[in-house]
Amino acid sequence: MSIRHFRTLLDLSPQEIKSLIRRASELKALVRSDTAHALFPNKVLGMVFEKSSTRTRVSFETGMAQFGGHALFLSPRDTQLGRGEPIADSARVISSMVDILMLRTFEHEKLETYAANASVPVINALTDLYHPCQLLADLQTFAEHRGDISGKTVAWIGDGNNMCNSYINAARQCDFELLIACPPGFEPLAELCEQNRDRVRIVRQPEDAARGAHLLVTDVFASMGQEDEQATRLKKFAGYQINRELLAVADSSALVMHCLPAHRGEEITADVLDAEDSVVWEEAENRLHAQKALIELLLTQ
Ligand code: CP
Ligand code: NVA
Repeated sequence: MSIRHFRTLLDLSPQEIKSLIRRASELKALVRSDTAHALFPNKVLGMVFEKSSTRTRVSFETGMAQFGGHALFLSPRDTQLGRGEPIADSARVISSMVDILMLRTFEHEKLETYAANASVPVINALTDLYHPCQLLADLQTFAEHRGDISGKTVAWIGDGNNMCNSYINAARQCDFELLIACPPGFEPLAELCEQNRDRVRIVRQPEDAARGAHLLVTDVFASMGQEDEQATRLKKFAGYQINRELLAVADSSALVMHCLPAHRGEEITADVLDAEDSVVWEEAENRLHAQKALIELLLTQ
């Protein structure tokens, strides 16, 4: 049987995503009740990080520890990965020793090359184009607070980046409408928008996206690798902010999400992010539970 990878949300069926989210909540309950669940003793996850991370590293590493397995942190700085060893060779060698691999990198093609050459499942832990692991946590968070997301409206406010592209895939897989408010020149992948034009629409005014929405989501204006553009992006994204005024036009039950790290006062105001009923912190915690459900699915295929 061919190896299952998790390169984008499209690698799972809509039904698998639903079951995975349910399982993530079950695993969360096991952690909360301090119930041991060492389901994968001696299994090893190789984690290749070519970009920085807090949540992703901590969640994958902790998840493997709770499963009774082990996680290996590999960075280009201290391995041959940073000295030009071909990606295909690295993928082949690392996957011959570990049971599952995770990669955070720049070019999405690199992730594809890893997957094509690895003998174990490869998980996309963020590329310039997609961040599907974060979507699993976001979908879990929505399900836990508001139930089924199908038929709902989601507003993406800000950059049409890797998170936004993943939201388009989520709209398709989970059957919701997605309104994206971004400035001209910062749209998500054109091909993805075209393929999903029945449920995805780009607007220019944040209010036009947020009106009546059940979920408002944003992310930083400058992603990793775009640090040099921070100042110009700050100007171009002026007004693309989740704040109390924007929230006021959304549905009264609307949740606000942010994958973090956040820049308070830029894409989101501190009062919204730090509100007593903010689910952003639980969204971050759910990375742990959702990824454990993903690891379980991929290791038991
Ligand atoms: N949201 C997220 O992926 O955070 P890190 O960059 O800290 O892993
Ligand atoms: N869009 C952000 C997400 C960080 C988790 C980035 O790629 O830097």
